[in-house]
Amino acid sequence: MILFVGGTPAMQRTLRFGSLEPGAVNRAYEVRVTASGKVVNAARAATVLGGRALLATFLGGDPGRFVARELDAQGVPHEVVWTEDDAPTRTCATLIPDDGPVTELVEEALPVSERDVAALEEIVAENLKEARALCLIGSFPPGVPDDFYARLAKAAREAGVRVLVDAQKAPLRAALEEGPFLVKPNLEEVAATLNLPNGEPDARAAVAALTDAGARWAFVSEGASGSMLGDDSGGLWSVEPPRVEAVNPIGSGDVMAAGTLLSLSRGASVLDAAVYSTACAAANALTPTSGEIRPDEVDDLLPQVYLTRLS
Ligand SMILES: Nc1ncnc2c1ncn2[C@@H]1O[C@H](COP(=O)(O)OP(=O)(O)OP(=O)(O)O)[C@@H](O)[C@H]1O
Ligand SMILES: [Mg+2]
Repeated sequence: MILFVGGTPAMQRTLRFGSLEPGAVNRAYEVRVTASGKVVNAARAATVLGGRALLATFLGGDPGRFVARELDAQGVPHEVVWTEDDAPTRTCATLIPDDGPVTELVEEALPVSERDVAALEEIVAENLKEARALCLIGSFPPGVPDDFYARLAKAAREAGVRVLVDAQKAPLRAALEEGPFLVKPNLEEVAATLNLPNGEPDARAAVAALTDAGARWAFVSEGASGSMLGDDSGGLWSVEPPRVEAVNPIGSGDVMAAGTLLSLSRGASVLDAAVYSTACAAANALTPTSGEIRPDEVDDLLPQVYLTRLS
């Protein structure tokens, strides 16, 4: 089982338009309401791809109950901390015009209590015994301490469970001190987390900074231009994704995290897992809703991923 932990799920509205004009009345021709947020996207992708996932997160209010029903309907196993004050889980919107780039409207998650944090930590502690891997993904709501992922990463290390962290800033810095097996931020997130050499941030420098800070492996993504993978002994590879006509690439990184851990749990090497997860990420970009993939598309895209050793 792969345990997915994150603090910011969302009820997601995805609206499609012919075109979109700020300041004008824009009428959607299609609306979908789904469960999303990084931890939801990742756990659902692992499930859809045939893995055994367990999602652990906070939910509250009517949007939270909607997310739980969606997880039930999609067969994504979950253990939920229903927040003490039942504050509603955030609602986010994605606006997709046929003729232009995607716009995201993001609400911040509402605060959680100390009791809520302790309850989530307890769920993780109980399920670590059964887990093959732990995925710590996304930002936290106010009320969760910056060392939360670090504490969970430490508990996982002590239980002999592999850890993947997809986060940024203080939570990622703290988690790096626990020597996680793999970290998977995008390049912008690395630049916001660690001091990179002056000038344009580049993925090669980002990988080196992450492994120097404690990661065994670092997998740094840069959207459609692909990603850079490196380990703490200086190995470096570039991973070129398939060229696809992207509809909505939001959630590709979340799906990449899930694909990586799923592939590793099936016995693949990190290099093969990086290739597989890159096909998964591209499959996400082909669907309008974030964190939604079709397994047959992953299979079709797999031969179009190119891994190149750089050092
Ligand atoms: N347009 C695209 N075409 C093909 N592959 C893509 C495209 N966009 C993203 N990807 C794949 O997905 C990976 C992750 O994308 P990205 O760097 O956007 O992640 P991210 O910023 O973490 O995304 P999110 O946090 O929204 O999930 C990339 O390394 C690439 O392999
Ligand atoms: Mg991401």
